[in-house]
Amino acid sequence: MSNTIISTAVAGVLLALGSHAAIAAPDWGKVPKRDVHVFHPGATPIEWATKKADHSGTAGMKKGETCVGCHEEKGALNFNFKRLADKELEPKGAPKTMTFPVSVQAAYDAANLYIRLTFKSPSGGADKGDKDNEVKATILFADAKVPQADQYGCWQSCHADAKTMPGSDEKKSKYVSAGAYELVQWASKGNKVSDGSVSTERKMSGGATGAKAEASKAGDTYTVTFTRKNPGEGKVVPIGVAIHADNSHGRFHHVSLGYKLGIGADGDVKAVKQ
Ligand code: HEC
Repeated sequence: MSNTIISTAVAGVLLALGSHAAIAAPDWGKVPKRDVHVFHPGATPIEWATKKADHSGTAGMKKGETCVGCHEEKGALNFNFKRLADKELEPKGAPKTMTFPVSVQAAYDAANLYIRLTFKSPSGGADKGDKDNEVKATILFADAKVPQADQYGCWQSCHADAKTMPGSDEKKSKYVSAGAYELVQWASKGNKVSDGSVSTERKMSGGATGAKAEASKAGDTYTVTFTRKNPGEGKVVPIGVAIHADNSHGRFHHVSLGYKLGIGADGDVKAVKQ
C-alpha cells in the first residue's frame, strides 16, 4: 500500500483523473529550502516576553529588534532549553525533543501561494490532549494591522489567559489586540484542512485563504503542502509555523519565531514565481 495520503476535495478530482494533473504543483526541486526551527515555548506568552523582569530581551524589543534577530544563531535557536523545560516556564512537563527543524519552501503563480513544510515529527510528548490527531501543521499569516507582527510573529496572538496556559480560562482561544492572522492547518486524522483566522478569537473555519493541503509520510518524515490564495506579488507577509506533534494540543506545540515571507520579494523565506 502506498503511504501517500491526499486530502480535501482535490482528492476526488485526482481519483477522477487518475493523475496529479489537476494541481499545477510547483517544481519543488527548483525552490530553495529555508530551515526554520520550531521549539517548545513553555508558557511564555506575549505578556511574559514583554515583561522586563521575566525576559531581558524587552529593551531590545522596544528598539525594534526581532525575536529571530536575537534568538537565531548559525541557523538554530540559542534558547536555554533547560529553562524552557523547567517548572517555572513549563509546569506541566516538557517534551523530550525541545526543538527540531522544519524545512520551508514557497512558490507562487498568479492565483496561488504554495508552501511546503518537511519535518520529522518527534514522539516523547508530555501532552496528549488531541486524541484524534497524531500531528497537526499550522501556518499563521499576519495582516498589516497586527501590532509588531514583523517583529514578534505569532507571539501577538499568544496570551497568558488562553486555554491550556497555567491557571487560564479554558474557553478562551488565541486572540490579537488589533488586525488579524489568517490561519491554515492540516490535521492528520482524515487529512482535515482548516481555513480560519485569529482576531478577537480563533476561528477554525470561515477563512478567506481557500486553503487546501496535501500530505505524505515517508518513514518518519512528513511533507505537508498548503495551497492558498496568493496574497499578492511583491508583498512581504509575517508568518509563523506550528507543529503539534505526538497528539499534543493547545499550547503544547512546537512553534517558530516570526519570519518574513517574501512573495517575489525579499524575505527570510522567498516564494519564487513558477
Ligand atoms: C534584544 C534581544 C532579544 C529579543 C528581541 C528577544 N529576546 Fe528572548 N531572550 C533574550 C535574552 C538575552 C534571553 C535570556 C535571558 C533572559 O530571559 O533574561 C531571552 C530569553 C528568552 C526565552 C526563554 C528561554 C531562554 O533562553 O532563557 C524565550 C522563550 C524568549 N526569549 C522568547 C523570545 C520571543 C518570543 C521574542 C520575540 C517576541 C524574543 N524572545 C525577543 C533576548 C531577546
